[in-house]
Amino acid sequence: MHNSFSEQNIGFSAKNKEKTDKNNQPESFLGQNSSTQDLLDKSHTKQSIKKKRILTGDRPSGKLHLGHYVGSLQNRVKMQNSHEQYVMIADLQSLTDESFKSENILEIMKDYISVGIDPEKTTFLLQSQINSLYELTFYYMNLVTLGRLERNPTIKEEILQKGYKDSIKAGFLCYPVSQSADITGIQADVVPAGKDQIPMIEQTNEIVRKFSQQYNSNCLREAEILLSDQPKLVGIDGKSKASKSLNNAIYLSDNEKTLREKVFSMYTDPDHIHVHQPGKIEGNVVFSYLDSFYEDKEHLSELKENYKKGGLGDIKIKQILFESLRAFLTPIQNIRLQLKDEDMISILKNGTYNANIEYEKTIQEVRKSIGIYSFD
Ligand code: TRP
Repeated sequence: MHNSFSEQNIGFSAKNKEKTDKNNQPESFLGQNSSTQDLLDKSHTKQSIKKKRILTGDRPSGKLHLGHYVGSLQNRVKMQNSHEQYVMIADLQSLTDESFKSENILEIMKDYISVGIDPEKTTFLLQSQINSLYELTFYYMNLVTLGRLERNPTIKEEILQKGYKDSIKAGFLCYPVSQSADITGIQADVVPAGKDQIPMIEQTNEIVRKFSQQYNSNCLREAEILLSDQPKLVGIDGKSKASKSLNNAIYLSDNEKTLREKVFSMYTDPDHIHVHQPGKIEGNVVFSYLDSFYEDKEHLSELKENYKKGGLGDIKIKQILFESLRAFLTPIQNIRLQLKDEDMISILKNGTYNANIEYEKTIQEVRKSIGIYSFD
């Protein structure tokens, strides 16, 4: 599961600089200052087989952790080679549950880049800076009923979890509509996500069908969800999945001391008191992390056998896990140390600029289909 971090190009900032400069003069994107090389590059792109387009996104509610790595980040590192990948920082969506903190945007960008999501292959975009999303969401509001929104299983679950009871905000109830705008506006074919996002994609596709029928138009496309084949990473307390709100996650940016503390406080087998006693693997957090992060699978099966038989202590397996997580995190953190805030902002700004062009194409078609008045 490890990435070959040694192959990673950490000299992206020089290459990206070129794009950033272009971003300050957007007209160069429109071809006025095209060099021969630019033209060659463009004709090459046209000739190549069209890759499927992916949109994924995260709310900037905190730094990313190992659960995000297992569940989505490693998949994005892979998918960027076979797909046209867009990664959205969904800051508007984080307003709907009051988890919004603008300083998290930079941290998340650093998380993305340091694990190997490559800005040369992936387009990063900031939701709030895509103007057509506000407009698209407004049009879609007329294609869903309140009842349908209230029946969305993920929303129902979140209402319970967050204890909203009778004080459900309209913005919260409608965030699936805004997410539909994210997905359809970029014309995504595929949305890689966890099971909890299935209702969001269903609702998106219902909106697409309703739009097509009501306005007799085919300018929107339905998207497909691609479920992760990795089981959710458990929290260090073993109670549920790793999550920021439960304070039971190991962050990509945790230093050695914190990592050690977290690994050594992991839930194992409460009945495994003495080294010589047989221990349980099932529900043992150390082993579920080893399953995800320990590369030598053969050695891991031996360790499990020994643990089950008795004779292998918790301290020993925790030490092994600590070492392998340290080996996994160190190269990521070394890259992170080299990342400059201003480069993160340029990458995001540049990507948002490019994504805006795509969203703009959709909104033009949508306005035409609905018959929105135009002064032009
Ligand atoms: N709902 C997603 C989450 O909570 C974030 C998100 C917003 C998203 N817009 C998206 C995911 C579009 C995929 C596609 O994590």
